[in-house]
Amino acid sequence: MQLFEKNIRSLQGKKGQQWLADLPRMVGQIEKAYGLSGLKPVKNLSYNYVLSGFRDERPVVLKLGIDNEALKREAAALRAFMGFGAVTVLAESDGMLLLQRAVPGESLKSYFPQRDNEAVSITCQGLKRLHQTPIPKSKAFPHIQDWLMILNQDWSIPENYLQTARALRDRLLQTSTKDVLLHGDLHHDNILRNGNDWLVIDPKGVIGEAAYEVAAFIRNPIPDLLAVDTAENIIHHRIGLFATNLGVEQQRILDWCFVQSVLSWCWAIEDGLDTDATYQRFIRYIDPAI
Ligand SMILES: Nc1ncnc2c1ncn2[C@@H]1O[C@H](COP(=O)(O)OP(=O)(O)O)[C@@H](O)[C@H]1O
Ligand SMILES: [Mg+2]
Repeated sequence: MQLFEKNIRSLQGKKGQQWLADLPRMVGQIEKAYGLSGLKPVKNLSYNYVLSGFRDERPVVLKLGIDNEALKREAAALRAFMGFGAVTVLAESDGMLLLQRAVPGESLKSYFPQRDNEAVSITCQGLKRLHQTPIPKSKAFPHIQDWLMILNQDWSIPENYLQTARALRDRLLQTSTKDVLLHGDLHHDNILRNGNDWLVIDPKGVIGEAAYEVAAFIRNPIPDLLAVDTAENIIHHRIGLFATNLGVEQQRILDWCFVQSVLSWCWAIEDGLDTDATYQRFIRYIDPAI
């Protein structure tokens, strides 16, 4: 079974099974309603059903998701980021988004590991542009503080990690200066080449300080990163590059990396994923106690 179908079944049970069965009918309806052609699922499906195709001559992407609220927030974030380096939303309805397709569309993952310094610099340019977006007045987006509340719960994660993450979180939140609208999941696969430019896709939309944003890149592409002998060097080298480029202290970025890996670990547990060993390994490279 494909990873995508496995994810939907394990996360959504019966409802997921039904949604998967309905997909061909939904795609057919949308294809007609919006005059789409040449629709083909992309290769790296994970939680959403994403197809590339055309509307008239224009390259588009159709994204169908079972989590309607998440798709709505994604659309709201993409609309807010319009003109600041994100793909354009062409149409939106319940459970679906029609988007501008980035062409040729290869992701920054294609730069790993050989062109890592360039990838960091592209990410810095991209996030500086994104972070100029005025924060929308609507209450559509949570604050990172809201996300980070789940660290207070009990998790099957070593207690010292949880305690460190909570303490660092509190200190980082108390000392953060300026809030911006963050992408919220700015890893390699969400930064795509579009002509001579790079555009972001798949934003979560969350408010917080800019330094929060770089941690997703620093721990990714996680299985490939951990598979190279020099993973620890790469991670610390990236931290140095981001710090210099963004004018943020290295320690602050390192602390966000720690807090966010524990947060991401909690989410993985919530989603029933078997990723404990991966997080254990990554965290050892950035543990302040080591
Ligand atoms: N606007 C787009 N242009 C080109 N490719 C896209 C676009 N949106 C998605 N993709 C492709 O589809 C994949 C999955 O899309 P994404 O929105 O990241 O889904 P998910 O929310 O499930 O991670 C991306 O990694 C990318 O390869
Ligand atoms: Mg994605």
